[in-house]
Amino acid sequence: MQSNILSIINDKFNVPVNNDWSFAGSRSIDNLTHGYHRYPAKFIPQIVKKLIETYTVPADKIADVFAGCGTTLVESKVHGRNSVGVDINPVAQLITQAKIHALQPELLAERITNFKAEMTGYDSEIVYAAAQHARIDYWFREKEKNEIAFLYGLINNIEEEGFKNFFLCALSNILKNCSRWLQRGTKPQIDPEKVIADPFKAMELQLRKMYKKNTDFYTQLEKDNNLGVECDIRLADARQTKIRANSIGAIITSPPYVTSYEYADIHQLTAYWYDYITDISTFRKNFIGTFYSNNRDMVTKSTIAQDIVNELNKIDTRLAGEVANYFNNMYEVAAEMKRILKPSGVTCLVVGNTTMKDVRIKSAEAFAEMLILLNFEIVEIIKREIPHKINPTIRDKNSGKFTKLTSENKKLIYPEELIIIARKCQ
Ligand SMILES: C[S@@+](CC[C@H](N)C(=O)[O-])C[C@H]1O[C@@H](n2cnc3c(N)ncnc32)[C@H](O)[C@@H]1O
Repeated sequence: MQSNILSIINDKFNVPVNNDWSFAGSRSIDNLTHGYHRYPAKFIPQIVKKLIETYTVPADKIADVFAGCGTTLVESKVHGRNSVGVDINPVAQLITQAKIHALQPELLAERITNFKAEMTGYDSEIVYAAAQHARIDYWFREKEKNEIAFLYGLINNIEEEGFKNFFLCALSNILKNCSRWLQRGTKPQIDPEKVIADPFKAMELQLRKMYKKNTDFYTQLEKDNNLGVECDIRLADARQTKIRANSIGAIITSPPYVTSYEYADIHQLTAYWYDYITDISTFRKNFIGTFYSNNRDMVTKSTIAQDIVNELNKIDTRLAGEVANYFNNMYEVAAEMKRILKPSGVTCLVVGNTTMKDVRIKSAEAFAEMLILLNFEIVEIIKREIPHKINPTIRDKNSGKFTKLTSENKKLIYPEELIIIARKCQ
């Protein structure tokens, strides 16, 4: 049985790179509301657009169980498909909320004008109330901290949720620029040389940029009569989405990479400022792909995953445990995907294979095996080149973490990405 599955996988994965999916000539990956906020490993919208056009019909409800900053949801709305997303990260939920709600442009212009007028009321002699966290004091100088506290106070006075989320998203995206956090990196690290942005100027610029993007989004939705399309983002775990069973026509998602991005750490500035967390180690625990699960269970259901774990275990037991945990978590996600999909519904998983400590981490093949074990049929495997620099392509040979191009330990990763298309069988 298992050897039969492996031969199906070998066969299906034996495909050349498909240039129709590279989108090398596409100019914008930040159009509409896609460019509201930086987010590690986000989709380029073109992939989602093509998946929607190829594998869904207008009546399908689309889900993204690792919604991130909501690329699938924005594109679903543009294509007139109802959608629902879940993510464990409250910062992702906030960004997505802001991105999926097109605001009436004239009303938004009025709100922005009022907000800018209120900004002039800042008084540097007053100490404005800010969230009390040692980490905020670590990342921010007193001056910027007080100015951000003032801006946050103004936003908290906004009553309508849609507008409030818009301003919260704007402030969230400038926090890094206004902090001492090393600008060109996802690693939490102080840059003592950093030229720190002025919060008022950064906010004005951010609002102007987002206003334009909202207007484009609103205009497009209005033109296509899609303003009322249902779109919902929830704070939930991909293993237990609380989405109704058999209700989803298609899932379009990209799982977190194994032990590469610590989303909890990366989004800590917003999480602390907006009081989403009090302690980062608890916050980290529910993220799939974290290096901090401290797993001891080395047994996985997929034989491909098991081989990877066994190889790693010869070199680094701790890492092997985290990778085993990752694959076990992903098996639970695959079972949840099966539960929420309608019979014959499809799941489209965008996955990058990688190498850690010279062991090939064939996540895509392992996920395909899990899906077959759960009675999915593999419809198609698409191999695409990664055209943009959204995903880093370098891992440190020793730590396995993403690193800078200049590092001596650099090792190429994700030169290609795989898209698994699988159908739920009856
Ligand atoms: C590769 S990113 C998805 C990016 C998304 N495709 C986009 O365009 O923004 C993976 C996401 O998985 C989320 N995640 C990690 N563990 C999760 C869990 N247990 N349940 C739900 N989401 C989780 C992370 O917060 C992150 O947003």
